[in-house]
Formats: sequence, C-alpha cells, structure tokens
Amino acid sequence: MNNLIIRPRRNRSSQAMRDLVSETKLSLNDIIAPVFCVDRNGFKSEIASMPGQFRFGPDLLMEEIKCLTDYGIKCISLFPAIDEKLKSPQAAESYNQNGFNQKMITLIKEKFPNLLVMSDIALDPYSSDGHDGLVDQVSGEIINDETLVILGKMALAQAKAGSDILGPSDMMDGRVGYIRTILDENNFKNVSIMSYTAKYASAFYGPFRDALDSAPKNGDKKSYQMDYANRREALREAELDIAEGADILMVKPALSYLDIISDLKQNTQIPIAAYNVSGEYAMIVAAARNGWLNQEKIMLEVLTSIKRAGADIILTYFAKDLAKILH
Ligand code: PBG
Repeated sequence: MNNLIIRPRRNRSSQAMRDLVSETKLSLNDIIAPVFCVDRNGFKSEIASMPGQFRFGPDLLMEEIKCLTDYGIKCISLFPAIDEKLKSPQAAESYNQNGFNQKMITLIKEKFPNLLVMSDIALDPYSSDGHDGLVDQVSGEIINDETLVILGKMALAQAKAGSDILGPSDMMDGRVGYIRTILDENNFKNVSIMSYTAKYASAFYGPFRDALDSAPKNGDKKSYQMDYANRREALREAELDIAEGADILMVKPALSYLDIISDLKQNTQIPIAAYNVSGEYAMIVAAARNGWLNQEKIMLEVLTSIKRAGADIILTYFAKDLAKILH
C-alpha cells in the first residue's frame, strides 16, 4: 500500500499545516454582541435560561460595553426590556424619542463613538400583546400595513438617537422599503439596514423572550415568521429585501438553518449575517454546566460552522467568550 499518490492527511499533519490550509477563520471584526438592558441604575440580573447573560441597568451596561470593547468587540445589538406599564396595544413607547431604548442608544454612542450600535425594530418589547406587529383586537390578525407606520416611526426615532444599523426583526411585508424611504426622506442616508430576512418561527427564541418578558400573550408568530419546513421561500424574502434596499441580510436562527445561510450566500451579492440565537446558546451552556460538553470547544466549532456555511457576520451571546480567546 505505498502506491497512494494522493494523501489528504498530508494537509493535516501538524497544527501549522492545518492552520496554513484552514478555510475558515473566526474574527472579532465579524462578531456582534447582543446586550439586554433595563431602565434601572445599579441593576444586574442573570437571565435564568441564559446563564452568563445578564440584563443590565444603564450604568452597569456601560461597564459591560467597556469590557466588550476592550476585548475588541466592534458592534453590539441593543435589546431593551420595557416596563409592563409602558406597554400598550399600539406600542407607542417604541417610537418615544425620549424613551429608554432611544436614550440608551444616544448614551452608548456618546461614550463609545467608535462602537457600532445596532438596534432592533419590532413591536414585541413594547406591545401589550407581545407580537411584533399590531394585533386586530377583534380578529386577532397581525395587521401588516398599519404596523409599517409604527415601524417607520421606530426607525426614525432610533436613527435620530444615533443608531448605526437598524435591524427590522418583525417580518412584516414591505418593511425594509418603507423604513429605507423614511430614513432617506429624513436625511439618514448613512444609516444601514440589516434585515432579518429569513427569520423562522422558532422554539429557539424561548430564552430571549424570558429575558425581555416579550412572549406573545395569544397565539404564535407563524403568520409572519417563516415556516421552518421551507427553504426556497428564503430566497424570495432575500430578493425582496435587496430590492427594497437592505444593506445586509440575516438568517435566524443559525444552527438548524445552515442550508439557508449557504443558499443566501450563493444567490446574493450583499453580506450575510446569521443570528446564533438564545436557545442555541442555552443548549450548549446547559450541557456544559452538566459536564457533558466542553463549552469552549463546542462554541468554536459552532461559530466556525456558521461562518463556513457562508455567514460573513455572526450575532452571538458567546461574543465575549470568543473575544477572550481571540483577543
Ligand atoms: C424580536 C426578536 C426576537 C429575537 C430577536 N428579536 C424574538 C422573537 O421574534 O420572538 C430572538 C433572539 C434570540 O432568541 O436570541 N422581534
């Protein structure tokens, strides 16, 4: 058996050789850290279903962001937990220019002008119904076009507050174009849109909804978020988002959707992001805390696989853990 000309193992023969031929490298340039905040100074509480992730009051969030930026994180995605008293069916607090989310965006940009701040556009944290769109109080239907008006107001309030990247996560039809037009009319031509293009109706969002106390009060999100049985439909959503002016497309969740990431990467020409969501984080941390998995190794494998599938950008709750290793 000495007649083998081709021996793929030669490329795996040492760490230096493996590094030389490695196709995929993780970089902090490509990582976005989601952070949760609450309007109460001095507050820090761990999210039970996301061990190692916290909801921070404004002052402590600044310390956390300092830590993230010191480790080399360049972009955060901000998620506010809103007081129940401020929630309403119309979600009017979502576009209050002096509201908590907008104040936080401004505060963060003042303290960290070089950090990219991404902010989320959807009604759920502000809606007493817990849905991403307006609910028809008689039929229970999530009404698309009326929702766009609110999303447009949110986008404008967040842009005025100083957000760099707007992330419409609501899955209403036509929202990217609607938001782009409002931004441009108001001279926010440089504010980017990272569209949650292929956002699936997923049970992997459970821990996130615990963190924000934002679960739907009635029904589910299947009339607007995508059916996880579908693959080609993601291309249709991508086509629309690109035509409507999206700068970056996102797939969410990431791990069970690597095929979708790959499809969008191959069939489009703009950057692809993937959201390694709360449930994906929770599964790994839970298993690791039971001593069943090596958390660090699994994290590296998972994040590398998301990138290998085609993601240029990854939103992940492992951002700080990864930064500690890569820094
Ligand atoms: C809100 C929103 C959700 C997530 C990001 N933005 C939850 C949902 O759609 O119910 C989920 C993120 C995660 O699970 O980490 N529209």
